[in-house]
Amino acid sequence: MQPSDHIAHVIGHPISQSLSPLIHNHWLKKYGIEGTYSIVDIAPDDLGTWVHQVRKSPIKGWNITIPHKTGILPLLDKVAPLARQMGAVNTVSKTSDGTLTGFNTDGVGLMTHLRKSIPDWPQDRPALILGAGGAARAAALMLANESVPMVMISNRTREKAETIAADLGRGRLVVVDWEERSVSARAAGLIINTTSLGMVGQHPLDIEFAGCARDTVYYDIVYKPLETTAMKAAHAQGLRVLDGLGMLVYQAAAAFKIWFDIEPDYDDALHQKLLDALS
Ligand code: ATR
Repeated sequence: MQPSDHIAHVIGHPISQSLSPLIHNHWLKKYGIEGTYSIVDIAPDDLGTWVHQVRKSPIKGWNITIPHKTGILPLLDKVAPLARQMGAVNTVSKTSDGTLTGFNTDGVGLMTHLRKSIPDWPQDRPALILGAGGAARAAALMLANESVPMVMISNRTREKAETIAADLGRGRLVVVDWEERSVSARAAGLIINTTSLGMVGQHPLDIEFAGCARDTVYYDIVYKPLETTAMKAAHAQGLRVLDGLGMLVYQAAAAFKIWFDIEPDYDDALHQKLLDALS
């Protein structure tokens, strides 16, 4: 494969397990766009040099994963408002003259998945976000713009949740103690797990869903495994449950739209390819 065949990348370090090539290459083929989406492993010290070189290449842009989501910021020409507010970029677009613009499509991915899957998700009750990393910040920022009356953030390390609430402010973000998460869940219409708890190799998320209303949505951003212990518990209590695969696909869809001006479909063939890759 010649370098000129590459049309977009995902960069990270270390990076080998990414599902992004599978998703984007499916869409490139489906929409008849020539080129390949590929993985590039870049150590933090090499990021500046790589960005300098890639400006002159014919690629449309790239996705960014750990650890470059914040390190990329000073290397860009422009940063979209949402990415600026999140302090993190997961998508860069490059115009033909080499101008680089940073975006963050993680929160958009989450909300698109939620809206498409459960259009009537309860917006008249508070939302509860578990965790205070980058995904929690993205979720908090999106939900602060929805009509929910309150967004509760609960994290083992309380100060990190307080930092998010202080940064995003607007009065509707409230920090609750990690020990209070099950009590807070009872008042919530939407519960989002953004912690690493429940992922393969991690402890399960310990949360009690008894007392939650049946229309409550439990959204776990984990997709390895596709069904976590907490998702099973939520199912058992009759809650509506979503896994993290949709967020992964729809954040990719938003990046694809930025690069190619096409809103790609999350079709059955793509879903099956993802299930096969995860099994
Ligand atoms: P990302 O940026 O991808 O969202 P991260 O920054 O690695 O993820 O954050 C992981 C989240 O999982 C954090 O909220 C972390 O809590 P702390 O801030 O207290 O570290 C949470 N987490 C990880 N292991 C945990 C555990 N055993 N119990 C409770 N929370 C945990």
